[in-house]
Amino acid sequence: MSAPVLETENLVKVYGRGESRFDALKGLTFEIHQGESVAIVGKSGSGKSTLMHLLALLDAPTAGVVALEGQPVNKLKPKQVSKLRNETFGFVFQQFFLNPNQTVLENVTLPLKIAGVGTAERNRRGMAALEQLEMADKAKNKATNLSGGQKQRVCIARALINNPSVLFADEPTGNLDTNTGEIVEDILFGLHRDHGITLVVVTHDEDLAAKCQRRLIMQDGLIVREETGSSLPAEASHQEDAQ
Ligand SMILES: Nc1ncnc2c1ncn2[C@@H]1O[C@H](COP(=O)(O)OP(=O)(O)OP(=O)(O)O)[C@@H](O)[C@H]1O
Ligand SMILES: [Mg+2]
Repeated sequence: MSAPVLETENLVKVYGRGESRFDALKGLTFEIHQGESVAIVGKSGSGKSTLMHLLALLDAPTAGVVALEGQPVNKLKPKQVSKLRNETFGFVFQQFFLNPNQTVLENVTLPLKIAGVGTAERNRRGMAALEQLEMADKAKNKATNLSGGQKQRVCIARALINNPSVLFADEPTGNLDTNTGEIVEDILFGLHRDHGITLVVVTHDEDLAAKCQRRLIMQDGLIVREETGSSLPAEASHQEDAQ
């Protein structure tokens, strides 16, 4: 069996020191396999975003190890880590993090620019991603002149531009109305189902968490429970289709 796409061993994160020391993660060991959908759930302050940032190699643990495809990340140089992150992961966050002064297309193609891809190829792939999310007609708009749902779709297009094998989403529907949230969920689970993308989702939304195949329940910096099983009927029919 292939190595898990992500693996942690005794992951610890401490913020601050002395009297302001806070133990945000207290030793987490678990695996995420390629093609899984995993929700990280728990109360506010339980450490969900902290954990996601460590898994996504956006921050380093105080102790413990994150391994990507069997390779411990702490053995790599910072430049190698950035490259791996850019090639392997896509990010969808609640606050969007779009550059308001750039066009939709420029925002979407930023990861390719970082990877050194030329302008023509960048724009071609950018337009293809926007088409996939039915946002091609907004390509030349400034990123500010969009609704919440449109911004989130731009973020998903940007997250997909590198064909990532893992998509991290932190409260992807948190700022959206119910309808728009459902559209975004359909897009995320469609990618999971049809393209085998690994989904790691932080959410307070129980319905969204229930759609994932696995839920890691966090409390005070620890995973206190794990649940399995998706509320989506698609898994079974998908397997039948494959036979
Ligand atoms: N940079 C930081 N410095 C100090 N403490 C921090 C820092 N970032 C997070 N924390 C603390 O670590 C704990 C976990 O924070 P984290 O953001 O991971 O929680 P969360 O589960 O994502 O919460 P929410 O559901 O509200 O987003 C919180 O108590 C928070 O105050
Ligand atoms: Mg959070």
